[in-house]
Amino acid sequence: MAERVFCIDFGSAYTKVALRRDPTADSSLLHCGGAEVDFWIPTVVLVDRRGTEPKLEFGDRAAGRAAGGGIDVYTDFKRHLFTAPAPADGTPPLAPLDALLQSAEFAALATKYEVNGAQVAALRQLAGAARTLIGGPGARVVSAEAHRQANAAKLAFHYFNWLRRQVLDACSRLPATGLKFEDIPVRVSVPALIPGADVAQHPGCKLLREALHRAGWPLHPELPFVSEPESNAVGVLTKAGNVLTRGGRIHLGEMFSKGPLITVLKGDPNHPTYRALVIDVGAYTTDFASLFVKTDGKNATAETGAGFAVQQRSVPVGVTGLDASVRESLSPEKREWLAALPHKDFENFQRLAYTEGKGARAPGLGTVGGDADRDAMHSCLSDFARRIVDEAMTFCSALGPANMQELILTGGGSSIPTVRDALIAATQSGGNTFVKTHAPELKRGKAGAALVDKLDRDFTRGGSALGGASIYFEKAYY
Ligand SMILES: Nc1ncnc2c1ncn2[C@@H]1O[C@H](COP(=O)(O)OP(=O)(O)OP(=O)(O)O)[C@@H](O)[C@H]1O
Ligand SMILES: [Mg+2]
Repeated sequence: MAERVFCIDFGSAYTKVALRRDPTADSSLLHCGGAEVDFWIPTVVLVDRRGTEPKLEFGDRAAGRAAGGGIDVYTDFKRHLFTAPAPADGTPPLAPLDALLQSAEFAALATKYEVNGAQVAALRQLAGAARTLIGGPGARVVSAEAHRQANAAKLAFHYFNWLRRQVLDACSRLPATGLKFEDIPVRVSVPALIPGADVAQHPGCKLLREALHRAGWPLHPELPFVSEPESNAVGVLTKAGNVLTRGGRIHLGEMFSKGPLITVLKGDPNHPTYRALVIDVGAYTTDFASLFVKTDGKNATAETGAGFAVQQRSVPVGVTGLDASVRESLSPEKREWLAALPHKDFENFQRLAYTEGKGARAPGLGTVGGDADRDAMHSCLSDFARRIVDEAMTFCSALGPANMQELILTGGGSSIPTVRDALIAATQSGGNTFVKTHAPELKRGKAGAALVDKLDRDFTRGGSALGGASIYFEKAYY
């Protein structure tokens, strides 16, 4: 049990951190240095290799700089951490060094620098012999994926090490509390990629655990990892509130009293069952969570406790995939222009092109993702929305009926009108109804304000961090 806890929502695009500083304090989002404008910190690491020693930068500073000329900018390393290295299917994968030495690009470079063919062959032999000497002839060849995963683990260590300083610094600016923040344990929200399995068993969590430990974060003693879908659902539905009864037990009724769920918890015979369907469209994964409650019409607040049944699933479909298809659909010049943008400017492009339908101005190229690319953008956006809708339908088809339902859309991807509106329409097909639909407010899009309750930014983007810090996950209070 932990009386207080940090929760890191380690997002592939943005990391968000919440703190619950007492059992019954509201969980709150921390505004850390490294997040220039808000509570979301770009999950970006920059390595500057131009000097004798590599120099590292993180967060907004890293996101604001372009790669190239000895500067590497790493984004998306969460995905590499959670992508299992592909098993060798008969042919052993090439080690990265062999892949380089045998590549057409390397041969072309050798020609350009007038290195003769015999020397190139000798270099290849030399590399092969050196490996045999170091590792022995049977030494395992490392696949490109395994190499990327190992690199992602190193980046995660550096990132969490930096993040810890930012978090403790942000805590030191909080009104005096007398708390020793450095002793507060941490919990991390991670995708639920393997159906039915404990999220902590994923090999990516083993790497995360090591990275966090090396970076000095004390892990929560019983539950260091929670799943993103569930923590997001809890964060949004409790509105970050934590309540105990006088006897010191969790007061689920009070915690979930901010929405229609309370009607069911109070024992309304007309509404004996309730479901919240929460869909978070992130950069790497889309997370689905169904929180189901059955009271049979009886009061289920403090004493009896509510029987929550949670079904959840993360699928590796996210805005990063949309980015890839958009790049693919543009002209080579526009693609190159996008590739050279600092991470932060790329995110500006995402907002302009996906959400506002305007595109970004590029010198000499007109606009990118705007009017001239309308057809390409339309087809990328609708394909992406269709993939998410298909996943949503698959997830929903396994759920039974509920008397009262609430739909909650979160994640940066839910701010894209095509995505948000497609999800609202699809989940309401076949006569399915929701007493309330919560989603980010949009300037464009057809779902009118009358239909949708505006979900503010703390809960659209920070739900997983807030929910992960909830006492809902402290089993000792039950
Ligand atoms: N208004 C917007 N329009 C378009 N894209 C947006 C908007 N706001 C955020 N995004 C993008 O949506 C993506 C998802 O953001 P989010 O913070 O939900 O991802 P994440 O939590 O880091 O990812 P994951 O949970 O999959 O690891 C990011 O690529 C972000 O840049
Ligand atoms: Mg996320």
